[in-house]
Amino acid sequence: MKSLRAALVEQFGDPSGVLGSVAGFIMLARPSNRERNLRTLQLLDVQPGDQVLEVGFGPGFAVECAAKLANRGKVVGIDHSPLMLRQASTRNARAIEAGRVELLLGSADRLPGLPSCFDKVFAVNVYMFWDEPVTVLRGLRSAMKPEGTLTLTLQPRRRGADDEDTRQAAERMAHSLRSARFEDVRIEILDMDPVNAACVLGRVPRTSSPSSAAPNPGAGN
Ligand SMILES: C[S@@+](CC[C@H](N)C(=O)[O-])C[C@H]1O[C@@H](n2cnc3c(N)ncnc32)[C@H](O)[C@@H]1O
Repeated sequence: MKSLRAALVEQFGDPSGVLGSVAGFIMLARPSNRERNLRTLQLLDVQPGDQVLEVGFGPGFAVECAAKLANRGKVVGIDHSPLMLRQASTRNARAIEAGRVELLLGSADRLPGLPSCFDKVFAVNVYMFWDEPVTVLRGLRSAMKPEGTLTLTLQPRRRGADDEDTRQAAERMAHSLRSARFEDVRIEILDMDPVNAACVLGRVPRTSSPSSAAPNPGAGN
């Protein structure tokens, strides 16, 4: 029989039910979760007028923080968990009512038709759930403005994970971003407990020619 811990760990990819609520609470309360989200937003350099998209918002902590930074812009979030949508909507109720935050139920693998309006896009501890990260990143790129910035952050969470896991995750994410034709891809390693987090940033080209938007069959994920 599956241990309670194993069942709880499984919840983080698509929280539901009682255990999913516990997972949502952990995401919100764990200091390292909050820190890696805050540091991601810092690196993303969110500006007051920015249009921001978060993929996999969980209980909505980073949405709340991003909305304070983009106080003349808008924050849109997408998550495929109805439970996380409810938790994050409660947390951000006032900003939603004011039209400064919009939270959507949906999958990064099948993005709803989003206008190409985002200056900043980020996803924290979500990359590892994507079966085809390059396809997801291409979809996100098409929802971004030229020269917009996308940031992927990952802090390995499996038991016994160490800084070498972080380094390898950083390389994988950087490779995916380059394969999806992001430019100026750079890796930042965040010195954190209990293990470092990797933050990888990429920029949408100034002009996206039709050929650069086309699928790249040789690219790995
Ligand atoms: C580990 S949690 C991280 C939550 C939050 N970003 C944080 O750092 O605390 C992963 C979140 O991403 C969502 N998620 C995973 N795969 C997704 C996908 N393909 N599309 C949309 N949301 C996804 C899950 O439902 C969950 O809320």
